[in-house]
Amino acid sequence: MTERFRVTYATLSADNEELHAAYEAGVERVRSWLGTEVAAPGDPRPGAPVRVASPADPSVTVCRVCPASPAAVAQAVSAARAAFPGWAATPWRQRVELLRRCADAVSDAADELAALVSVEVGKNRLEALGDVEEAAVFFRYYGDIMTANDGYDVAMDSLSERERTRSVLKPYGVWGVISPFNFPVALAAGPTAAALLAGNTVLVKPSLQGTASAWRLHEVLTGAGLPEGVLQLVPGGDEVGRALVSAPDVAGLTFTGSYQAGMQILAQGGSAWPRPVITEMGGKNPAVVAASADLDAAAEGVARSAFGYSGQKCSACSRVYVEASVHDDFVARLVRRAESAVVGDPLQRDTFVGPVIGAESVERFRDAVAQARRRGQVVAGGEVLTSEELPGHYVAPTVVTGLAPDDPLLGTELFLPFVTVVPVESVEEGIERANATVFGLTAGFFSGDDAEVEEFLRRVEAGVVYVNRRAGATTGAWPGVQPFGGWKGSGSSGKAGGGIHYLPLYLREQSQTVVT
Ligand code: ALA
Repeated sequence: MTERFRVTYATLSADNEELHAAYEAGVERVRSWLGTEVAAPGDPRPGAPVRVASPADPSVTVCRVCPASPAAVAQAVSAARAAFPGWAATPWRQRVELLRRCADAVSDAADELAALVSVEVGKNRLEALGDVEEAAVFFRYYGDIMTANDGYDVAMDSLSERERTRSVLKPYGVWGVISPFNFPVALAAGPTAAALLAGNTVLVKPSLQGTASAWRLHEVLTGAGLPEGVLQLVPGGDEVGRALVSAPDVAGLTFTGSYQAGMQILAQGGSAWPRPVITEMGGKNPAVVAASADLDAAAEGVARSAFGYSGQKCSACSRVYVEASVHDDFVARLVRRAESAVVGDPLQRDTFVGPVIGAESVERFRDAVAQARRRGQVVAGGEVLTSEELPGHYVAPTVVTGLAPDDPLLGTELFLPFVTVVPVESVEEGIERANATVFGLTAGFFSGDDAEVEEFLRRVEAGVVYVNRRAGATTGAWPGVQPFGGWKGSGSSGKAGGGIHYLPLYLREQSQTVVT
C-alpha cells in the first residue's frame, strides 16, 4: 500500500500535484457520507431533521441534523462532568502526547475533511485544506505552549523556611465551544484543543451549516483515543447553543460568531458564579493605502482578503482608505483583479471564489449592491452569477466607490465579496477612519515610508495588523505565527487564538501553600 499524502503548511501550494490528487481522492470518499444523519448519541427526543444543502449546489444534501433535545444537552453536560476529574488528573504530558496523536489523525484525514468543507461551506480547495491543517496545528501549537510552560506549575517565593508555595494553573470543568460555519474545522478545533490541553472536557455546538465537517472532525479526534465523555458533539441550531450557554454546569465558553450573538452571550448569566466567556466576533476590516505604497501589492493584498472565501472570513477586508492622489490608479488595479478572479465550483482546482453560504447572503448582496448604486458607483461586479452551470449561491466580486465615509455600508459587516474604496487626504485621516468602527479585528497598511508604518502601528486599533502584505491585506493568520483575536467589538478576551497567551484563558490559578 502506498503511504497516504500528508498535508502540511509547506505542501499547501497551488502547483503541488500530489496535494491536488489527495484532495480529489478525498472528494470521492466524501460522496459516500453525503446525507449522513447527525444527532446527539442516545438523544431520547431529537428535533426533526434539518437538511443542510451544499451552497455550491443546493440539490446536494450534505447532512441532516437532528437538533439535540434539552434532555440530550443535559445528558452531554453530565457525561462531560463525569469525565472531567479523570481527564483533569491525567498528567499534562500525557494529554499533550494524546492531543499530538489527534493532530496527526487530523492531518492524515485532511484530504477528506477538506473535501467535506468544500462541499458543506463552499470553500475552495486550498483554503479548505488550510482550514483543516490549521486545526491540526492548533493541537500541536498549544501542546508546545503547555510544554514550554512546564504545565503552568511554578514555585513562588517563601515567607519562611518551612513554607513552600506554588502557583498552579488548573482547568475549570466542562467547556462549551460554539463554532461558526466559515472555518468549520479550524474554529471548532482551536478552542477545543486549548480547552482539552488545559484539562477541561468539551462540548462542541457547531453552526448548523458546518455540522458535517465538525461531526467528521469529532470522529477523527475521538478515533485517535480521547477517553469517553472528554469531547462530545452537540448538534443543532441557535436554540441548542442557547441551551448550552444557560446550562449551569458549563464552566466556561468560547463563542465564535456574530457581534450581536456574542454580545448577548456576554450579557447573559447562566451559572451560579462568574465564568470565563471568550467571544470572537465580527469585523469590518480596513486597509489603508498610502501614496507611497506599491499599488500592485496593495491591490493584490486587498483582493485576496476581500474576495477570498467570498468575503466570509471575519478577517476579510471590506473598507479601503486610499490617499486621494493614487485613488483612481489603485481602484483600476483592484477592479482588474476583481474581474479576473475565477468564480466557480469550489471543488474545481482553479476556483478562487466559491459560492456564498446561502440564499440569505445572496439577498444581502442584492440589497447592498442596490444601496451602493443609489449612493455611489459599483465599478466591478454587482451581479448574481447563479446559472445552469453554477446552480449554487454565486455572486461576483464587487468593488464600490463614491460612498460617503459615513455611509451605512461602511459600518455593517456584510460577509460578502464586497469592498468599498474611499479616498482620504492623508495617511492620518485613513487611520482615523479605519479606527472609526465598533470593530477591531484585523487591519492592513500599504506604504513605502517607515515613518508612516510606525505611525500606523502606533495608532491602529485592531488585534491583528499587517503591513505591505501581498498575500492578504487583512487575512491569513496562522497559529504560532499571527495570534488571531479581536479588540473592541470583535473579541472579549484580549488574548488571541494561536498566540502565546491563549492557553491560560482555559485555566484558573490556584496558589498552594504547604507548611512542613
Ligand atoms: N485565520 C483566519 C484568517 O486570518 C481567520 O483569515
